[in-house]
Amino acid sequence: MQKVIKDKGISLTIVLSVILAFAGCVGGQLGQNNSNEYRKGMVVSASEDASLVGIDILKKGGNAIDAAVAVQFALAVVYPNAGNIGGGGFLVYRSAEGEVNTLDFREKAGFRASRDMYLDPDGNPVIDKSLFGHLAVGVPGSVAGMVAAHQKYGKLKWGDLLEPAIVLAKSGFKITARQARELNGLKERFITYNPNGTALVKDREWLEGDILVQSELANTLELIRDKGMAGFYSGPVADSLLAEMKRGKGILSADDLKSYKAIWRKPIIGDYKGFKVITMPPPSSGGIALIQLLKCVEPYPLKQWGLNSDSTVQLMVEAERRVYADRATHLGDPDFYDVPQEQLLSNAYIEERMAGFNWAHATPSANIKAGTFKVAEHEETTHFSIVDKAGNAVSVTTTLNGSYGSAVIVKGAGFLLNNEMDDFSVKPGSPNMYGLVGGEANAIMPAKRMLSSMTPTIIEKNGELFMVVGTPGGSTIITSVFQTVINVIEFDKNMQAAVDAKKFHHQWLPDTIYMEKGALDSLTVVKLKSKGYPVLERGAIGRVDAILKTRWGYYQGGADRRGDDKSIGW
Ligand code: GLY
Repeated sequence: MQKVIKDKGISLTIVLSVILAFAGCVGGQLGQNNSNEYRKGMVVSASEDASLVGIDILKKGGNAIDAAVAVQFALAVVYPNAGNIGGGGFLVYRSAEGEVNTLDFREKAGFRASRDMYLDPDGNPVIDKSLFGHLAVGVPGSVAGMVAAHQKYGKLKWGDLLEPAIVLAKSGFKITARQARELNGLKERFITYNPNGTALVKDREWLEGDILVQSELANTLELIRDKGMAGFYSGPVADSLLAEMKRGKGILSADDLKSYKAIWRKPIIGDYKGFKVITMPPPSSGGIALIQLLKCVEPYPLKQWGLNSDSTVQLMVEAERRVYADRATHLGDPDFYDVPQEQLLSNAYIEERMAGFNWAHATPSANIKAGTFKVAEHEETTHFSIVDKAGNAVSVTTTLNGSYGSAVIVKGAGFLLNNEMDDFSVKPGSPNMYGLVGGEANAIMPAKRMLSSMTPTIIEKNGELFMVVGTPGGSTIITSVFQTVINVIEFDKNMQAAVDAKKFHHQWLPDTIYMEKGALDSLTVVKLKSKGYPVLERGAIGRVDAILKTRWGYYQGGADRRGDDKSIGW
């Protein structure tokens, strides 16, 4: 069994911190969450340990893809609530020469999945079934994604990219106060789904600075290091995963694992006031939705109205309402459903959608029954942005879906499994954990990919790299990326200020504006309410990790202070 030890061994954090501090490569800014500028490259992620791993790979001559692979595996160790090998994600790439590409390593339903698998005999969704435990798990795509990315664009040796994660898993790393709180809060859930013990459960409460050692995960990572795809999708790791499925009555099979493939897809490309926006196509809804949102607001003088003014908020909310309604109806896995991408992105269609917008009062969303928005549920996913010395950029969003996914940790292999099946429309018309309503386009089918909101994005200005951006946040991902982009382009914020700015969110159903505390001043709230917009305060929205290239050619990091995120440059 894996053991958690405190103050034993030397964590990679300390080793790397000391090396980097001596090398002076982060200009004394190590550990600061700020927008300092660097020339040679930058990594921004949800964890300082993972950002250090990425920057170290860049320093060793690795490119942005090499660093992304190393960061993805490092996050699976040091950020187990969303970093993963048992989940999936999307990658958007732009080479220094301007080649663009996207990689879909989204999870998919197993061959034995069926449309009504989460409904009770009366046809009502049994919520917990798609959220926790073995039945909630989709076929993991992350390892296939990293192998595909490395085969196509990687420069350093595959094994060298796994090594830092293996060291972090073996020697352990110091958990943050936030991680200690989360692990303590989920103790009962972990015990329920992992009765034979797991490294994530301690006999006492977790404390900030405790060392988390994950030796089973280290063994799994070594197999992936040595055998690539075969180290995960077949052999001992696959056997452990299948045994875990059997134990918990899950449905994933050896065929599901063996047949999984990551897919290179043509990026969605849009234009906003001369900025070229390169983003993720379906099965993410994020790219289409982001371009639609930008096009909806493009004709209006946002800059003149100001950040979070009543006119700005009203316009953005009306755009969001319409775009999320489209999302619910038209978007799903393009390999199973004919997504009307061209129509959704056409200028004529956007114009027509916004034509019914009335400044005097809110447009009601009430044409289908409203969903419930469970803001208490975490919106866990994680994003990282990387630029290397040559100027290659990569934007990766990866997820287990909920915080710590299904809470099932594969016995003997030490990694968490996703609960991504909840991103399907479990019952078309009923809301999922994010309150998102979906239609037939996203109904469950064997081997289909579930619709996502993840929006990894890269933006060009005048043919040059301008921004690398993305965030976790479930249904709030799209609106968080939208606001961050607008904060830079319209409101001239630097990268950190754009990330720091308070956010609001509307997703058509429920028909409510959710805002972070202080996002809108009280007069703006009164004005919006008087026009028929319900406004509710909620906790943090998004956790954006982004990089901006300044006009002088420096990289500015924006690491979200809503988490423990870090930008590190050199
Ligand atoms: N699991 C969150 C998403 O893919 O949108």
